[in-house]
Amino acid sequence: MTLWANLVYATHTPPGINLLHLRLAPWRSYAMAVTLTDGQYPEGLCYDMYDPYHYYRTQVVDGKSYLIAGGEDHKTGHEENTEKCFRTLEAHVRKYFAVESIAYQWSSQYFEPVDGLPYIGNLPMHGNNIYVATGYGGNGMTYSTVAAGILRDLITKQENVYQELFSPSRIKPVAGFTSFMQNNLDVAKNLIGGWFATEALQDLANLAPGEGQVVEYEGKSIALSRDSEGALHAVSPTCTHMGCHVAWNLAEQSWDCPCHGARYSPDGKVLTGPASADLEVVSLRSAVESKS
Ligand SMILES: Cc1cc2nc3c(=O)[nH]c(=O)nc-3n(C[C@H](O)[C@H](O)[C@H](O)COP(=O)(O)OP(=O)(O)OC[C@H]3O[C@@H](n4cnc5c(N)ncnc54)[C@H](O)[C@@H]3O)c2cc1C
Ligand code: FES
Repeated sequence: MTLWANLVYATHTPPGINLLHLRLAPWRSYAMAVTLTDGQYPEGLCYDMYDPYHYYRTQVVDGKSYLIAGGEDHKTGHEENTEKCFRTLEAHVRKYFAVESIAYQWSSQYFEPVDGLPYIGNLPMHGNNIYVATGYGGNGMTYSTVAAGILRDLITKQENVYQELFSPSRIKPVAGFTSFMQNNLDVAKNLIGGWFATEALQDLANLAPGEGQVVEYEGKSIALSRDSEGALHAVSPTCTHMGCHVAWNLAEQSWDCPCHGARYSPDGKVLTGPASADLEVVSLRSAVESKS
């Protein structure tokens, strides 16, 4: 008897370079859990109609109620000061609720498909036994349930009424995609190399602890950030996935790629795919020490 293994990429966006990456846009969303002084926790889940929108709901944890409020979404890498998104959300919540304290706050990414529907089924340009479920947007609870049913039926060779609707093969192949993909595999080889004087970059960027910025120096782009202890970190801003330039995410202290959502730590380590290789670390040396 032949046994066929099946692989499902349930990794938010699939790793590597895939046609789907050209049809999914990464967005960042913000949420906070607050306690209220007057106990007026909403009973339902409510959304407003602002752009960007907000939503509110109540969550009880160990007998304690929290109002969860979220929103202030924006395309990844398109907001210079992501900390401001939390403060705007907080101001909005305080306008409508009697906030006692902010217990938790967090932000993360989601992926929006170009035509509004997730991609669930065979991963395009891969074998018949390789599947994907991605692009749920802000509706992960609903679409993950749909995906579980479709993928179960595809793997067990049953008909599913939704399989055509959500099929990733509804994407038209992009002409020249294979050579485009091959060219992009070389991105990581375009290295900055050499070393740079710490003092010159410090003067150029003038970063406070927690801040990051991409600077131009001696014809090279360098992604600089300063950690809470004051140490300067320098990496190449070129995303190792397909070569876009990363942007600093102040709130999460990470380098985020606006193209397909890869994220890296301040010292360039991959935090989330689709990238699988770290950003190149740029060597910094004190010019004074180097002369002596
Ligand atoms: C702030 C915020 C609020 C939201 N609120 C709601 C809401 O109220 N209701 C709703 O329905 N949706 C909501 N969403 C959307 C929802 O969270 C997403 O649509 C959903 O989580 C996507 O599910 P996923 O399984 O595709 O990816 P994820 O939930 O990101 O899961 C992917 C998993 O794969 C793992 N992984 C990744 N790469 C690899 C690898 N190479 N090897 C092994 N594991 C890997 C990751 O660690 C992760 O655990 C919200 C999103 C955000 C950001
Ligand atoms: S995630 Fe694709 S280029 Fe950065």
